[in-house]
Order: sequence, then C-alpha cells, then structure tokens
Amino acid sequence: MLPMFRELPRAGTPLKWQDIRSAGLYAVTSGSPFAAAFARWLSVERVWVVSSGRAALCLILRELAKRSPRREVIIPAYTCPTVPLAVARAGLQVRLCDVDHATGNLDARGLAEAVGDETLAVVPVHMHGIPCDMRLILPLALKHGVFVVENCAQAAGATLDGQKIGSFGDASFFSLGRGKGFTAYEGGIGRIADSRLPIADYRGEITEGLAEGLTIAKLLAMAVFFHPRLYWLIRALPLGWDNEVYGLDFAISRMGRFRHGLALSLLGRLDEIVAERRQKAEYLRKQLRGVPGVQLLEPPVGSRPSYPWLPMLVEKRDKSVRRLRAKGLGAYRLFTCSLNQYEYLQGIVSQGSYAAAEYVAAHLITLPTHEYVTRWDMDQMVTLLAEVAF
Ligand SMILES: Cc1ncc(COP(=O)(O)O)c(C=O)c1O
Repeated sequence: MLPMFRELPRAGTPLKWQDIRSAGLYAVTSGSPFAAAFARWLSVERVWVVSSGRAALCLILRELAKRSPRREVIIPAYTCPTVPLAVARAGLQVRLCDVDHATGNLDARGLAEAVGDETLAVVPVHMHGIPCDMRLILPLALKHGVFVVENCAQAAGATLDGQKIGSFGDASFFSLGRGKGFTAYEGGIGRIADSRLPIADYRGEITEGLAEGLTIAKLLAMAVFFHPRLYWLIRALPLGWDNEVYGLDFAISRMGRFRHGLALSLLGRLDEIVAERRQKAEYLRKQLRGVPGVQLLEPPVGSRPSYPWLPMLVEKRDKSVRRLRAKGLGAYRLFTCSLNQYEYLQGIVSQGSYAAAEYVAAHLITLPTHEYVTRWDMDQMVTLLAEVAF
C-alpha cells in the first residue's frame, strides 16, 4: 500500500516554536510557577503537578483513604483502563457503575444504586470533555458521605453552569498526556479542595536525568510530527499507540521543569484552543444530526464541553473507521472494551454486566477537532459517515 501523504492526527495539540522556546527558558530560569498559574485559571486555591494523571489520581485516593475506613471507589464501566489501575495502586477496591447511553458518562441513577457503606469515593469521568452532571452527583455524594474525585483527564476547559470542570468535587485531576487537549507529552495535575496535604513537596521516585531527557526528546518528536503531512510517518513506526494494556507499575514522580514551562506556555492560549475545538465539534454535530446510524453523545444542559475530539456512537463502527482512516481523516476507536471486558483487569474491577458501557465500547468513534482539521475535512467526514454508518 502506498504511504498516505496527508493524515490528520487523531487527537492531541499542535505545539508551536514559541512553546518550545518558552519551555527551554523556563527550564533554565525560575519562571513564575505553572501550578500557581493553573490554579488561578481553574479558580481554585492550589494544585500540584506530578508525572501523569494516573499518578495524581493514585495520590489523591491514598490521601482520602487516610480520612475514612471505607475502601471502595466507584468508577464508570467505560473509561480509560488506567483509572482502575490507579485505584488498585492506592490499595483500594474498584466498583464499576454503568454509563448513561445518551451522554457516555456515569449514569446518575446507577450511581445511586451503587453507593453504599463501603464507598470511599466516586470518580465521575468527564469523558471526551463532556461534563458529567455534577448537579446530580454532588448532592448524592454528600448524602452518603462519599468523596467526589473529578477525572478531568480529557476535560481541561470544559464548563458547567459557567464554572470550570475540575473545581466542583472534593478533589480532581487532569492529564497532560500525549493526545490530550492540553498536553506536555506526559504529566498530571491534582487538586484536593480541603488540603493540608504536603503533595506540593512530593518527592516520590524522582524522574530526572536520562528518563527526563528521553521524555523531552519524544515531546520534541511529537511537536515535529504532529502535522497532517508528517503524521503518517510516525504512525508507520511500531510505537504501540493502539495498545490498551497498561500496568500497575506506573511512575509516581515529579514532572520535569521543561514540561512545566511547556504547559505554562500552552495554558496562555488554552481557552482559545478549546473555543476553536468546540466550534469545530459544533459544526460537525450540526451536520451529523439525523445521519442514519450516527448517535451523538449529548452534553447536559448548561454545559460547554471541551471536545479534545468529537465522540459519537456509530452503527457500522469498524467499517466507518476503516473508510475514514483510508482518507486520512483521523477517526479512532478510543477504548475498545468496557472495563469488565479487559482480561488483564479481571481481579481488579468488579465483574458483572454493564450493557451501556459495552455498547459504547463497541460503537464509539472519535473524530479530530484540532487546528489542522479544515472545513473540507469535516465535510468529507460527514459525507463518508452518511454513506457507511448505517
Ligand atoms: C479518562 C482518563 N483518565 C485517566 C487517564 C490517565 O492519564 P495519564 O495518561 O496522564 O496517566 C487518561 C489518559 O488517557 C484518561 O483518558
């Protein structure tokens, strides 16, 4: 097969020369701290920065577990497999709750049934940057004395009733991982509202020297290859990007200064980036509404999703992805199993049947919304889905 000479990256954020330059400067000088700038942006008192989103979740849960004898954490049955692994790494038990077919997020009624005397925390995941309805989840959690830990890995910049996602729960975390709407290649941001927690001083297993250098090299490669004319080159390499098997042995460490600087630079235009993505997602949604075989996931009233990509459920999913990919349109099957279906998670997650989560896993397609996606690309996506989705 001939190599494809134009292929849209499926997710992620293009980095600019100015981001790299700012990151380099930040690494060698003492710039104003990224964590403080992010806390201001989120309108919270303070946040701390670690090596990944999963590391942040694990640290949050370890801290919450000190405040209660309860040991169970409720998470949605369709989300990133690193979520149950972070719960297990914190020494806690995972209980799955089905998702809502219409939003793809935690089902509030299911949650009311799942919460019990053993529930330490619930982790609503704002999947695809679509806010969970915190107006339903927070009172329920309060009633049962359960902590709410917002998973904002995909949701930097989303709002609900004008308030930023990540500022609602008792705690929250963001991911700065590759492929996210707000990225430093790897990294995580955590927050605990009522915090005397010394995590800001967290030392852990410090990533420095060679490991940090390697991460920066990968970050620079990502910056270069995140372009429709070059992306196919890096996709042709066996980098394991489609691998959905993750381990319990993830690093819990600090994030290097270069990446702090990069994140600070991106934060300066994050609202602009999110607004552009939202605009593209809204255009696609408008065109796709009523297309047979396509079901759009619906954000709750009063919310503004961040859409790092646009999710939808498609009847003929695999055929549609193949056809969209053949045209270089960046379609992707995000996580192809619900958490109860991954063999390597058995023994970590509760077993049972989670019909909506299984349906989502079998039908989800994401389409890119980043700055390289043109109106022409979006019209092509819609035309093709209208041909093959049903
Ligand atoms: C919903 C969700 N939660 C948690 C994570 C974990 O973030 P990280 O890769 O930074 O550990 C991800 C990353 O893909 C995610 O999508």
